[in-house]
Amino acid sequence: MADNVKATNVTWHHSLITLEDREKKNGHRGAVLWFTGLSASGKSTLAQAVQCVLFERGCQAYVLDGDNVRHGLNKDLGFSPADREENIRRIGEVAKLFQEAGFIAMTAFISPYRADRDKARAIAGDAFIEVYVNASLEACEARDPKGLYQKARAGVIPEFTGISAPYEAPENPELTVDTAKLSLEESVAQVIACLEARGVLAK
Ligand code: ADX
Repeated sequence: MADNVKATNVTWHHSLITLEDREKKNGHRGAVLWFTGLSASGKSTLAQAVQCVLFERGCQAYVLDGDNVRHGLNKDLGFSPADREENIRRIGEVAKLFQEAGFIAMTAFISPYRADRDKARAIAGDAFIEVYVNASLEACEARDPKGLYQKARAGVIPEFTGISAPYEAPENPELTVDTAKLSLEESVAQVIACLEARGVLAK
């Protein structure tokens, strides 16, 4: 769908306020912090907790969450490979807009396909930080906070990630957080340390 360009005769308008201007005002860099992992791996919980810490530090931060975005912008999309691709394409573009606005944009989507995540990475360029929220299928299934794994096992939900649809783990993520072993506080600290190490946040 990405190549299906129908918008012709449109020109690019440059902003009079640059990203550098915004970053200087904010006191931190803009970034796309891309959380990926199985359903119930802890992506949203971790992103929300990181957002709280960043907010307390006076940063511009915002979480784009799969379950929420699928209620609005992406409510026309299901869970077929093509629909997931389009889901991730749109979020990649939206996250890039937030980053250009100077925000630390956090995305919490399963984003199961490596190729789709790599396209999001290409959109955001150097600002992209991939965080693999690593919890085994067994751990996620044991948590099953929404009862979805149970329904997927029973065949009620088709194409469920980890059960009847694939999850392609990142090969070279900037950060891997082992949420089955770490506490939430420890996981948050790892993400903040990563942002500091990469110069998004000042140390
Ligand atoms: S993604 O694969 O396209 O990145 P996304 O993160 O937006 O998925 O949405 C995943 C959420 O949708 C899950 O946390 C779960 O609550 C819900 N969901 C409903 N059906 C499915 C399914 N077939 N596979 C995975 N998640 C599903």
